[in-house]
Amino acid sequence: MKMNVCGIEEKNYRSVEHVLQLFAEDMDVSFDEHADDDRNQLHIQSFETEHDWRSTATLHTTNQKQFQAEFTWKKSDMSPGKGKSAIKHVINGAILQVMEQYSNMKQPWGVLTGIRPTKLFHVMKQQGYDNEQISQTLASYYRIDDEKIKLMQHIVERQLTAVPDLYDLKQEVSIYIGIPFCPTKCAYCTFPAYAIQGKQGTVDPFLAGLHYEIEHIGAFLKKHHIPITTIYFGGGTPTSITAEQMDMLYDQVEASFPNVDDVREITVEAGRPDTITPDKIEVFHQHHIDRISINPQSYTEETLKAIGRHHTVQETIDKYHLAKQMGMENINMDLIIGLPGEGISEWRHTLAQTEALMPESLTVHTLSFKRASEMTKNRDKYKVAEREEIQQMMREGSQWSETQGYVPYYLYRQKNILGNLENVGYAKPGKESLYNIMIMEEMQSIIGLGCGASSKWVHPKTGNISRFANPKEPKKYNEDYEHYTAKKIEYLKQLFLD
Ligand SMILES: C[S@@+](CC[C@H](N)C(=O)[O-])C[C@H]1O[C@@H](n2cnc3c(N)ncnc32)[C@H](O)[C@@H]1O
Ligand code: SF4
Repeated sequence: MKMNVCGIEEKNYRSVEHVLQLFAEDMDVSFDEHADDDRNQLHIQSFETEHDWRSTATLHTTNQKQFQAEFTWKKSDMSPGKGKSAIKHVINGAILQVMEQYSNMKQPWGVLTGIRPTKLFHVMKQQGYDNEQISQTLASYYRIDDEKIKLMQHIVERQLTAVPDLYDLKQEVSIYIGIPFCPTKCAYCTFPAYAIQGKQGTVDPFLAGLHYEIEHIGAFLKKHHIPITTIYFGGGTPTSITAEQMDMLYDQVEASFPNVDDVREITVEAGRPDTITPDKIEVFHQHHIDRISINPQSYTEETLKAIGRHHTVQETIDKYHLAKQMGMENINMDLIIGLPGEGISEWRHTLAQTEALMPESLTVHTLSFKRASEMTKNRDKYKVAEREEIQQMMREGSQWSETQGYVPYYLYRQKNILGNLENVGYAKPGKESLYNIMIMEEMQSIIGLGCGASSKWVHPKTGNISRFANPKEPKKYNEDYEHYTAKKIEYLKQLFLD
């Protein structure tokens, strides 16, 4: 769909584009004040009065239809953003409404295009607003639908039950450790996932760098008495290295980090069932790793083949039972709604299979077409369900979870996600992943070690956030890990010692 927009200041182009892209994957937006007639034309007027901010959006379509919407926000009403951000906001509100009229499509998340809707809820809560005031603002200012607002409220309450001191953890940190290797690359994935012995070299030089980072960052945290709240091994697939390499890595963690015995949770993503072996589970036990993920994604064999996962459904089930028999008591499973070729019947089958296993937690993702993934590059090869069917799957998933005693406890959204929906983590009460809450709600710094690991600095006093990323490719990491470690220590000094 081609859309030309007039009446917008350049600094607001990106946010307008994001709202328009909610309505069509192929939305092609231009901002030409004198555009020709082969494009739909969207005229925006916006202004500020003594009492409010206003915007009008008028859409003239190429087939001579006209739609109009107005959005007004009173200055006396509660709003999380004032001044310039309020103007931007009323513009987006008017555009959303005019596009909803035109497309007959209701956006469940209103004008929100960011990753973390629940963070918005927490911010308003910390400003002293009660749940009712927050819900009203989410409905009228952000135009989020009631079902999603209830979900947000439910999640925020659950998080504060699971981590009662969530707002007071800025003097602590969590640790993310990225292991960038996988047995094969899944078609939807853009995470660092290199072959164990591919062009990027072998695992050993990477692990040498990682040991170095753990040792030096650990020494800093110890010296300055900065406690660790949670540790998360992700990737890639952290179990794609050998049991012996895992053992040495966890030894390094125990020797280097402060308060390892008191860390509230240590997770290892053992995502790919084809990497799980009894000796690796034994290593988890020896090192008190209390939470792992074994990820089915789908229980339909053809789907696993189509997405390049190279393990069978039976292998997922077998490895889950093996881990349980060997005493793992907190297992998470990731699922994806809308995988190629899957509709409501495959999703029901996945839920029925999950019911037979009942892991302690589940993360239900909605497929997102990430720009650099094999799936996006070859979009035509991968047929996915229509928006209504995707939404129905999400609804059934949420009803099913409730019936089974799972409670939603974190949520995030991504660009180009099917049906403009979300990813939701569910857990049996008491089995929520604290790391997932930390990363989504940005309540403390997370130090990223290893490949593709991004550090997020949350200033303990101001709450201001900045980021710093390690390289994604092992080769680059192997050459420069000392530099990246030193940079992180500089950041930590600014955060905790200034
Ligand atoms: C960091 S990934 C890695 C997990 C692990 N390596 C595995 O594949 O089992 C975490 C989860 O994100 C989900 N995911 C990754 N890419 C996705 C995409 N493009 N759309 C939807 N979900 C995605 C998958 O469910 C995956 O298990
Ligand atoms: S196993 Fe996980 S990290 Fe590796 S390619 Fe597949 S989804 Fe990505």
